[in-house]
Amino acid sequence: MRADELAPALCALEAAHRRRRRPCLESAQGARVVVDGQPLLAFASNDYLGLAAHPHLADAAQAAIGRFGVGAGASHLVCGHGTLHEEAERGLAAWTGCPRALLFGSGYAANLAVITSLLGRDDEVFADRLVHASLNDGCQLSRARFTRFPHNDLARLAAQLAASRARSKMIVVDAVYSMDGDEAPLTALLALARQHDAWLFVDDAHGFGLTGGGRGALAEHALADERLIYMGTLGKAAGVAGAFVAGSETLIEWLVNRGRSYIYTTALPPALAAATLAALDVMASEPWRRERVFAHARAVQAAGRAWPMPQVRLAIHPVIIGGDAETLAVSQALREQGIWVPPIRPPTVPAGQARLRISLSAAHEDGDVAQLLAALGQLAPCTDPNERGA
Ligand SMILES: Cc1ncc(COP(=O)(O)O)c(C=O)c1O
Repeated sequence: MRADELAPALCALEAAHRRRRRPCLESAQGARVVVDGQPLLAFASNDYLGLAAHPHLADAAQAAIGRFGVGAGASHLVCGHGTLHEEAERGLAAWTGCPRALLFGSGYAANLAVITSLLGRDDEVFADRLVHASLNDGCQLSRARFTRFPHNDLARLAAQLAASRARSKMIVVDAVYSMDGDEAPLTALLALARQHDAWLFVDDAHGFGLTGGGRGALAEHALADERLIYMGTLGKAAGVAGAFVAGSETLIEWLVNRGRSYIYTTALPPALAAATLAALDVMASEPWRRERVFAHARAVQAAGRAWPMPQVRLAIHPVIIGGDAETLAVSQALREQGIWVPPIRPPTVPAGQARLRISLSAAHEDGDVAQLLAALGQLAPCTDPNERGA
């Protein structure tokens, strides 16, 4: 883009209802927030367990700041790695049941490090068509042959794997799809990975903290294998920031030595490692948080027939509306009633599949969910329940 092309391109985005603006939060994250001066009941964040403003996490972070200061000061390999990072990595490995874990500044960086450090020109990566943008970027950056398979289509993936002559292969999936809320068939995927001698890289950004008793997708499906690579983010259910990769000792040692987005970046502030340990404590000691999210999910699914919604069981429940302008209008109508459900438009989702993304949290009371469902019901395109979409 030349400089003189930017303003017209932004106008074109505006005309297509695709220009993004950042709502400005004036409160802590929670069920009730203040956005641009307006109090709202929010179904918008990824703070699924309501930990982002939990006092135990805040206390742990504050105590760590008191002892270690704010910044890590350098990358992990230079002098930014400390005892709290070590403890958090050990805690995450034990919690997920993996031999070793490695902290990253973000899930985006973790995904780039895994894919680009393990794959190169002679290799092939097979990614579900709906995987997160950071995984797609990692696939592209790796220079491996990049093959995508239709969403959760294992027959197609099996055929692609069988046809591949690549030296090293990797299957890449989200455990829980971020804009659809549905899950990957991980047991069958691992069987395919074994059959075709491939890595299976599982991005559990939206399952970690919820599934497997909070321990995530591998615990949920009782999966263990040297070829499994697990990524969990800490900025969602864990309520902190950053991410981790868990896997075999040798895999983690390789990432420390060859993961460019691990090596060439400043370490996570130690206070966030302390908050991560506190989040693991709360996940273990307050299982009611997960149960409450599941109960809210059942309530949404039971009432969800007013709009087309997929059958899902975790925190993310998309209401598929289709057009960008219509989706914005429904989101705006909810907002006028004091309810915040963000509209998700292309390129985050395919054209024609714009949606509202309802995000449930343990911070919500039953009455909050009932209020959302009543408002959505009133705005529904059709009022006869027998004629509404599935
Ligand atoms: C599936 C998935 N993977 C990775 C990421 C990136 O994680 P982070 O926000 O920590 O960079 C996200 C969301 O941000 C995500 O939804």
